Amino acid sequence: MKVLVVGGGGREHTLVWKLKKSPRVDKIYCAPGNGGIARDAKCIPIAAEDIKGLADFAEREKIDLTVVGPEVPLVAGIGDTFASRGLKLFGPKAKAALLEGSKVFAKEKMVKYGLRTAAFEVFKDTSKAISFVRKLAGPCVVKADGLAAGKGVIIAKNTEEAEEAVRLIMEKRAFGEAGNSVVVEELLKGEEVSVLAFTDGKTIKPLAASQDHKRVYDRDEGPNTGGMGAYSPPPVYTDDLHEQVFREVLEPVIYGLAADGIQYKGVIYAGLILTEKGPYVLEFNCRFGDPETQVVLPRLKTDLIEVMEAVVDERLDDVQLEWDSRAAVCVVMASGGYPGSYAKGEVISGLDELPPNVLDFHAGTALVGEQLLTDGGRVLGITGFGATIEEAVQSTYVGVEKIHFEGMHYRRDIAHRALKKGLGTCGSA
Ligand code: AMP
Ligand code: GLY
Repeated sequence: MKVLVVGGGGREHTLVWKLKKSPRVDKIYCAPGNGGIARDAKCIPIAAEDIKGLADFAEREKIDLTVVGPEVPLVAGIGDTFASRGLKLFGPKAKAALLEGSKVFAKEKMVKYGLRTAAFEVFKDTSKAISFVRKLAGPCVVKADGLAAGKGVIIAKNTEEAEEAVRLIMEKRAFGEAGNSVVVEELLKGEEVSVLAFTDGKTIKPLAASQDHKRVYDRDEGPNTGGMGAYSPPPVYTDDLHEQVFREVLEPVIYGLAADGIQYKGVIYAGLILTEKGPYVLEFNCRFGDPETQVVLPRLKTDLIEVMEAVVDERLDDVQLEWDSRAAVCVVMASGGYPGSYAKGEVISGLDELPPNVLDFHAGTALVGEQLLTDGGRVLGITGFGATIEEAVQSTYVGVEKIHFEGMHYRRDIAHRALKKGLGTCGSA
C-alpha cells in the first residue's frame, strides 16, 4: 500500500513511524513532513492546508490511504474533497469536524446529547458578553468560537481579566474570524485526561488514555503551550471511569451526531476534566492529540493501517485493539523562548547517543545537508517506556539528557501527578 500522512509535527512523525511498521505498507509520503520524518517517509513540499494540492498528489501517485494529522484541513473539508474525488482518507468530514471547528456547535451538541460540560453562555455581541462576565463577578473561562491554534481559550481569574479577554477576542480580533462569537463558561477544577477513540460512526473503540502537560514550566506554571509532554496510562483514569466515559461521553456524542445526520468517522479526542462531580467534557478534537499520540501509538500493538482501513470501510467491529502493558512517557524539548518568539536553525546533537529503547519524534526540525537543525517551537518529543510510570520517566530522561541544542528547555516533572500519588504502576490500557 501507498500511504500519505498530512502534517509535519511530532504527532505526524509518530503516525508515520507506526504506519511504517505495517507489513502492508510499502511506501509512505508525508506532506510537508520535517527533518526527522524524512528518515521514515518521503517528504513532499505541499502544505497541510493545500487541500487541492494534496488531492491532486494522492490521485497522481495512486495513494491508497491518506491520514490527516492536524485539524485545519479537516475543518476546511479535506474529507469531503477526497470523498468527492473517490480518494480514501482517514478523518472526519467537515460537518463532523465542526465538533472542534466551532466551540458553540460543540457545546450545543453536548447539551443536546446530555453530556456533562461547564455551564456556559454564547455571545455575538461584545457589550452583552461584558455585562455577563460582570454579573458572574468571579473567575470564568472565555473562548473564541473558532479555531485559534490552541490559543483561543483564556482562563480569567477575575472580572477585569474576563472583560479583557472578551475585548481581545471580539474587538481586537486577536484570532480573526474565530472571534465572531465567544463562549463564556464556568471554571472547573480537576485533573485533565485525554481520551481518544476510533470510530466508524457505528462502533467505538477507545485508545489508551493519556495526560498532557499544557503549561510551559515545572509545577504547571507559566503560559499554556501546545503541550510539553504526556504519559500513558494515567492512573487517575480507572477502569470504572473508563466505563462511565464510554457510556456517558463517547456513545452519546457519536450516536447523537448520527441521529442528527452527521456521520463521524476517524478518531475523536475528548478532553476531560475529572471534577468532584465526575468527568466533564472540556472540548472535543477531531484528530489525534499532540503530544498524546507520542505516548499512545507506541503502546498500540495492533497494526494501525488495519484499524484505519476498518474505520474508512465501516467495519471497525471486526478489529480488536491490543495494548502494550508498559507505560510510556514523552518529554517535549522546545526552543529557547517558546511559547513566545524563538530562534530557528540551531544545531541539534546527541540523537545518535539515545539508548535503543528510547524514541525521538521530531516536531520542528529541518535537515539541511547532513545537519539536523531546529525549525520550530516544539523541536523534539522523546518517548521512553517502563514497567511502571516511574521507570518510564527514568528511561525517558536518560534519553533527554543526551540531546543538546542552543537555548533548549524542557519540563523535568512530566508525569508528576502519577508519581505524587505513588501510583507508578501500570494497569490495563
Ligand atoms: P479547550 O481548548 O477548550 O480544551 O481549552 C484548553 C485548556 O483550557 C484545557 O485543556 C483546560 O486546561 C483549560 N480549560 C478550558 N475550559 C476550561 C474550564 N471550563 N475550566 C477549567 N479549565 C478549562
Ligand atoms: N495536546 C492537546 C491537543 O492536541 O489538542
